[in-house]
Amino acid sequence: MIAMTSDAAVKRAAELRDGLNRANRLYYIDQAPEISDAEWDAMLRELQTLEAEHPELLTPDSPTQRVGAPPSDGFEEVVHPTPMLSLGNVFDREELEAWHRRVSEYVEVDRFDMTCELKIDGLAIAIRYENGSLVQAATRGDGIRGEDVTANVRTIRSIPLRLVGDDVPSTLEVRGEVFFPISAFERFNAERVEGGLQTYVNPRNSASGSLRQLDPAETAARPLDAFIYSVSAFDGDGPETQSGILDALKRWGFKINSWSRVAADLDGVSTAFDAATADRPGLDYGIDGLVIKVDDLALQARLGTVGRDPRWATAWKFPAEQATTRLNQIAINVGRTGSLTPYAILEPVFVGGVTVSQATLHNADVIADKDIREGDLVIVQRAGDVIPQVVGPAPENKRGSDSKPFEMPDRCPACDSAVVPDDEDVVIRCVNGRCPAQAVRLLEHFASRGAMDIEGLGEKLVSVLYRQEFVADVSDIFGLADRREELIEIDRMGEISVTNLLAAIENSKKQPLARLITGLGVPHLGSENAELIAGHYLSLDALIDASLRANIWRNIPLEGDGGPDLIENLIGIEGIGPTIAESIRDWLGLYTNLRILRNLRNHGVKPPPIIKRDEDDLTLAGLRFVVSGRLESLSRQEAQGRIKELGGAVSSSVSGKTNYLVIGADPGSKYDSAIRLNVPVLEEQQFLDLLAGGAPGVTETVETRVPKSEAIRNTLFD
Ligand code: IVH
Repeated sequence: MIAMTSDAAVKRAAELRDGLNRANRLYYIDQAPEISDAEWDAMLRELQTLEAEHPELLTPDSPTQRVGAPPSDGFEEVVHPTPMLSLGNVFDREELEAWHRRVSEYVEVDRFDMTCELKIDGLAIAIRYENGSLVQAATRGDGIRGEDVTANVRTIRSIPLRLVGDDVPSTLEVRGEVFFPISAFERFNAERVEGGLQTYVNPRNSASGSLRQLDPAETAARPLDAFIYSVSAFDGDGPETQSGILDALKRWGFKINSWSRVAADLDGVSTAFDAATADRPGLDYGIDGLVIKVDDLALQARLGTVGRDPRWATAWKFPAEQATTRLNQIAINVGRTGSLTPYAILEPVFVGGVTVSQATLHNADVIADKDIREGDLVIVQRAGDVIPQVVGPAPENKRGSDSKPFEMPDRCPACDSAVVPDDEDVVIRCVNGRCPAQAVRLLEHFASRGAMDIEGLGEKLVSVLYRQEFVADVSDIFGLADRREELIEIDRMGEISVTNLLAAIENSKKQPLARLITGLGVPHLGSENAELIAGHYLSLDALIDASLRANIWRNIPLEGDGGPDLIENLIGIEGIGPTIAESIRDWLGLYTNLRILRNLRNHGVKPPPIIKRDEDDLTLAGLRFVVSGRLESLSRQEAQGRIKELGGAVSSSVSGKTNYLVIGADPGSKYDSAIRLNVPVLEEQQFLDLLAGGAPGVTETVETRVPKSEAIRNTLFD
């Protein structure tokens, strides 16, 4: 109905929009308002009236359209056009120098400018503009897929709905960080307390909680803010440096963090880091370090990414945050193999963004080294996602006359039987085979993700089931199906959770043998060795058979039949040493364990049979792999399983003997080791190609080295 719209109305609407957008920018971004709130309100009302009279004038990027989208049931998935990356970390000048050296060597350039930006502690956001109008906003999610939070992002006043300037690319995707200002966070939490609502732990959590509200009006009611720091997709000519990008973003109407500065060398970066440390307490937003980016975009492109981390940037993190609190008690946790581990029960203290009330103390030696005692005032620290740690007594700590050094108990706190020191490690163990604490831990371990992966059967439920005598050993888990009605009666269980639990238990019956073996909790036997053992026995039946022989031998110790023979067979498996072989023999040789294995079989636990491959299929024979970081199309364990199926070996750390490091997201320090040792690095797709029988596509991100295996060498160089 454009014809019915008067030219005057069109013109006035445009004027009002421009005026409001400009006022908005001056107020929320430049913090230099030129008009009063009353003038702003009057303009907005006039525009609302005009748009109501002429609905055809209404555009989605109109300033009247920030709030107003109806609540939704959930968020749509958005696949990011290019992955949203994460960042590698450095913690000191030395590590920064190592990063700088790697960059220099990679591009063979000695000196390069670096942009230093504050690392905003909020949540990453990607926003897409078409012809200057905001069309979509998404959270980071797993970096590949995020959630569509467009309606909520539109309510953030410092994010422009419409861009300004004639050099705005027709399609533009920008990325930045949404945050909850600290001052506003404190006010907001205080209001929640008054309203009887749960408070948020820290500004970061509240930013994330606020952005993920299903009702945009709810998001609009919270004072979220955002800094934009990058352009992920560009068409046409653009700036040539990161600092140029920041300038362009600012010109187009985005709020950028003006603290950013360019450093010509490492001393410049150090100065910037010191300045950030000094400025931090005065900022109204949380920062957790400095982001250092190679300024030259052409250099950035040459450097590329490895896994999910760009080579061209790194984060220099602030040291762990510390706080002082009272160590109320040193308590003891009894593990699944009976190991007694001391842990600190602390007066709850807020540090590094969370409230800490417990921290492991590892063992008596650690406690002695740190010189901490019950009742001490101690320093607690937490860095980023790292688990909290007790550093030592606080300088102002005073001890009373009753203070005494900690001693490990000589009886198990769970079953009161005598404990014994383990010769091999510093651990003290409860060796009571019927210790309830051990039984519960073992059940937990059996159901855990790394073993049988039975969803819903966690720590709490396991304790309840054990205490109420539903389960005594792991095989009893599979008998629960017959006790459905009784289970429903358990406090907080109910029909649905029992149905889900029983379904999860039923599904787990088909878990691979290696997972089952891992779950049995044989001392010293981790998941990697469990793979090897599974590859040796191939079926549960064969394992039961070995247990039977080991039991017979235990009672009638003759040559062969489970004694020396069994051990020799086990030691014959590549990668299995004498300690583990003996541990397995001892475990299999216990009658209770034979009974557990048989009960598992009787309850229908049936791992799929393992099929041994022909020698010809073992395309990875002789190659040693390390897998690090999060992969997308398969889990790390699956990846390791595939390598082993094809005859390759898997180790947990990179050494000179490693042939390939396979990396996913956040590969961590293994990647650095690989570069240092010149070990070829495979990204996920290259790894998948290799599994499929091809050569790993040699791209820029792969440092090549001739692999040892003939099979691979042929595919690579034919
Ligand atoms: S650059 C290149 N610049 O930190 C990939 N990220 O640990 C990283 N972050 O997911 C983006 N402030 O959410 C960049 N000035 C800044 C940043 C920043 C905060 C966040 C971002 C990213 C995370 C990586």
